[in-house]
Amino acid sequence: MVKTDFLLPLNMTKYIVVTGGAGYIGSHTVVSLVEQGFTPIILDDFRNANRIVISGLKTILEKEPIILEFDICNPEFISSVFQTYSPQAVIHFAAYKAVGESVAEPLKYYQNNISGLVNVLQKMLEYNINNFVFSSSCTVYGEPDGNKEVSEETEKNLPNSPYGYTKWMGEQIIQDTFNAYDHLKIINLRYFNPVGAHKSALIGEFPIGRPNNLLPFVTQTAIGKQEVLTVFGNDYPTPDGTCIRDYIHVCDLANAHVKAVDFLLQQEKGILENINIGTGKGTSVKEIIETFEKETGVPLNWQYGPRRSGDVIEIFANAEKAWDLLGWKSELTIKDAIIDAWNWEKHLA
Ligand code: UD1
Repeated sequence: MVKTDFLLPLNMTKYIVVTGGAGYIGSHTVVSLVEQGFTPIILDDFRNANRIVISGLKTILEKEPIILEFDICNPEFISSVFQTYSPQAVIHFAAYKAVGESVAEPLKYYQNNISGLVNVLQKMLEYNINNFVFSSSCTVYGEPDGNKEVSEETEKNLPNSPYGYTKWMGEQIIQDTFNAYDHLKIINLRYFNPVGAHKSALIGEFPIGRPNNLLPFVTQTAIGKQEVLTVFGNDYPTPDGTCIRDYIHVCDLANAHVKAVDFLLQQEKGILENINIGTGKGTSVKEIIETFEKETGVPLNWQYGPRRSGDVIEIFANAEKAWDLLGWKSELTIKDAIIDAWNWEKHLA
């Protein structure tokens, strides 16, 4: 049974509210926050998370995390959390993220992703909580024109799915809010492709239903949960014909959130920054398959199939700003991510 009781805060505790903290990136960020001396308050209604993560967190942290099981679209609930804990910052992960589903059920995405964000921002203003880290995505760049290495200065393109629009509009909502309340301190972290799992293999990605993303599909195929991995297209204008992405280890990504919170807490004046979180290196789908087979020794049943509609051909991060501003850069490799994701898949089996 997940704890939902409100503990009375101690004065010196550095509370950070983590919406969606039981999800994939959220749970890894909770670990990083604790390692850096913060006390995360997880807000999650488990509609898109699995309770196995909670027992994993308990073991890794050697204590029970604070979990409040509610919907962030409920303003009264957010009020009671902010009032009780007076958190120093909010990290806002809670959102749906399946591109295909967002095309089939757009209102579900706008309702949850947009009203959740608006609700949290409104309550932050009401309770005078000024530090905010938003889960954004490289999806805001769309298909980059020309240079495939995108910096924060690269022009944004219109997204190609309702999911993408919720991130694009999320950044716009944040910009407009900051224009009106410029005492706020905000970082939009634009994630590239999060992969891997905690090295303990006790927390990781838990796709609900058939995975949409590449690496969970790879590991599920290798373990036999999926019959065959289809590579979506091999006729792209890339060296091996498959799409190229910047795969970032989820533990590196988690650390970026803690660095972002630290940075915001040091600022005396309001600030709004967009920061890419990637490795700076592109890897093709074919290279992922080859690395998986080499590193795990497990042969993968895969085939080429047609292109997936809406796929970007090639994109990778210029991650210099993350280093310059936050002192963050990726430390783990794609090999680490593949091994960790595989160990997690075996842990689930
Ligand atoms: C997608 C979204 C992105 C979102 C992210 C969330 C699009 C265009 N982008 O990223 O906005 O932030 O998910 O996690 O949908 N692939 C296969 N076979 C598979 C699965 C994937 O070949 O079974 C390929 C894809 O064609 C792509 C690469 O693997 O080239 C990565 O795909 P995926 O993991 O879905 O991530 P993105 O498409 O980059």
